Amino acid sequence: MSVTIKTQEDIEKMRVACRLASEVLDFIEPHVKPGVTTEQLDKLCHDYMVDVQGTVPAPLNYAPPGYSPYPKSICTSVNHQVCHGIPGNKALKRGDIVNLDITVIADGYHGDTSRMFVVGSDASILAKRLCQVTFECLWIGIEQVRPGAHLGDIGAAIQKYAEGNGFSVVREFCGHGIGRKFHEEPQVLHYGRAGSGIELKPGMIFTIEPMINAGKAAISELPDGWTIVTKDRSLSAQWEHTVLVTNDGVEVLTLSAGSPAAPAGFSTRQG
Ligand code: MF3
Ligand code: CO
Ligand code: CO
Repeated sequence: MSVTIKTQEDIEKMRVACRLASEVLDFIEPHVKPGVTTEQLDKLCHDYMVDVQGTVPAPLNYAPPGYSPYPKSICTSVNHQVCHGIPGNKALKRGDIVNLDITVIADGYHGDTSRMFVVGSDASILAKRLCQVTFECLWIGIEQVRPGAHLGDIGAAIQKYAEGNGFSVVREFCGHGIGRKFHEEPQVLHYGRAGSGIELKPGMIFTIEPMINAGKAAISELPDGWTIVTKDRSLSAQWEHTVLVTNDGVEVLTLSAGSPAAPAGFSTRQG
């Protein structure tokens, strides 16, 4: 097994799948309000993907080795939930922070992206700062991506920024290659040493999806076999983009009309 270099046709199809994944987040944003249940958000997204887009929700029945089939179409991770939260009948309340993670399959190709949402208006200063710093971690990671850079450059930059802000990086889950398969090589760690790992080459496509905790880095898994929470029950945030290594930099594939703009001062070498 090795890291695949995508063909021009693969890249065209990934652009479409990734934009569609981001458009599901644009669609669901106005529904993320106090009182809505994560199950309702799941149903809305499912129907939008299947009936409006004609895409397939990749999480539904996804069963990597050692896992039971994932029972829903999106992941909804609230407050101290780190990732893979299963939508359920609990209503969101004002001040919650929630990650919605969307993966669609379009014409056989996967697009994978997630954003944080603040429910209502008054999240705590800490919750808002955690969401913002994690967003910046994602973009600091993206900024490292260009041919000749190493995978470890991404993790090192993210770790330095997260820890410099007093937060911690989850170790057990990482970004991943993506294409016809949901999860491919390479593993994209969100911590590590600059210069380590494989050298990036044009045509590689992978996700960057830092999970950042307000408290300690340790996590545990709930008895449902999927939901990951912080061990100390501190807040956790995550943002995710799928990116392409281009001839002279990076192209962020999971962008759409409603994508939050990159933080001020962030340059990405598009091309
Ligand atoms: N979308 C997640 C990721 O970014 C994977 C979710 S797997 C699921 O890699 F089965 F929980 F949906
Ligand atoms: Co992913
Ligand atoms: Co994802």
